[in-house]
Amino acid sequence: MQKTILLTGGTDGIGLETAKLLAAKGQTLLLHGRSDAKLANAKEVIKQNSPEVHINTFRADLSNISEVLALASKVKDQYSSIDVLINNAGVFKVQNPITDTGYDVRFIVNAIAPYLLTTQLLPLFSANGRIINLSSAAQATVNIEALKGHQQLSDSDAYAQSKLALTMWTFQLARSLGDKAPQFIAINPASFLGSKMVKDAYGTQGKDLSIGANILVRAALDDEFSNASGKYFDNDIGNWSQPHPDALDEKKRKVLIEEIENTLDKLSIKNT
Ligand SMILES: NC(=O)c1ccc[n+]([C@@H]2O[C@H](COP(=O)([O-])OP(=O)(O)OC[C@H]3O[C@@H](n4cnc5c(N)ncnc54)[C@H](OP(=O)(O)O)[C@@H]3O)[C@@H](O)[C@H]2O)c1
Repeated sequence: MQKTILLTGGTDGIGLETAKLLAAKGQTLLLHGRSDAKLANAKEVIKQNSPEVHINTFRADLSNISEVLALASKVKDQYSSIDVLINNAGVFKVQNPITDTGYDVRFIVNAIAPYLLTTQLLPLFSANGRIINLSSAAQATVNIEALKGHQQLSDSDAYAQSKLALTMWTFQLARSLGDKAPQFIAINPASFLGSKMVKDAYGTQGKDLSIGANILVRAALDDEFSNASGKYFDNDIGNWSQPHPDALDEKKRKVLIEEIENTLDKLSIKNT
């Protein structure tokens, strides 16, 4: 069956590889990127192998909450339904980790922007829809003060905490939204895949990106992922697994979501 799939961060790394594979399988692609030039390039590259693909591009910098809201509005204006959202865009190492609104860009791009995009787009999904969130083997207890922008973290701490935050809200929405909501699935695409993120962070070439792209395509399309809401797939072991214990703790998940909502309230006020 042909699906309509919104993929964030589709201009490089695992995202671009995933977009190529989905296009080759005849899926309709809503390709997000933060740069018009990289989006045009990605579209050209994807079309070289899959000239018939339906592909629509959307530009938004996910470190800017008003751009996340504008992205959601544009998608809602153009589509009445979506089958799959892959929240793939992410950051590890950046020159200025604190945004001009005072928050850590890792928390914003890796956890808060995908939460906002997902919740804004929920009306477009049926219960068969899938929200696929790119988690990581790196997961660490969230320092709420750092999430609020009151404390600075190292690159690796901010990354691991933001990835656990994403995994925690994935599990919480899966449990709180009920049967009519789409499936919420967290996936570690495998560690040390050879993207620019891994090269910048660890100075290593990394493994074949197709390892990550293949698991995302399976998660988007295959029946094996059709009853997987609130689960974590660890592609380092090629199987379902348990995330960090905090993702299994409902009380901690609720506190985290409350803090994300508070942050969004503050950011929306600053953005108006
Ligand atoms: N590689 C691994 O081993 C590994 C392991 C576990 C999890 N992951 C996760 O997999 C996902 C993809 O990462 P990757 O390894 O493929 O890294 P990557 O090549 O650096 O790709 C990251 C993507 O996110 C986009 N992005 C970054 N900041 C953004 C922003 N502010 N607004 C909008 N888009 C933004 C990038 O856009 P540009 O193209 O413009 O740079 C790029 O398309 C990430 O969530 C990462 O945490 C990767």
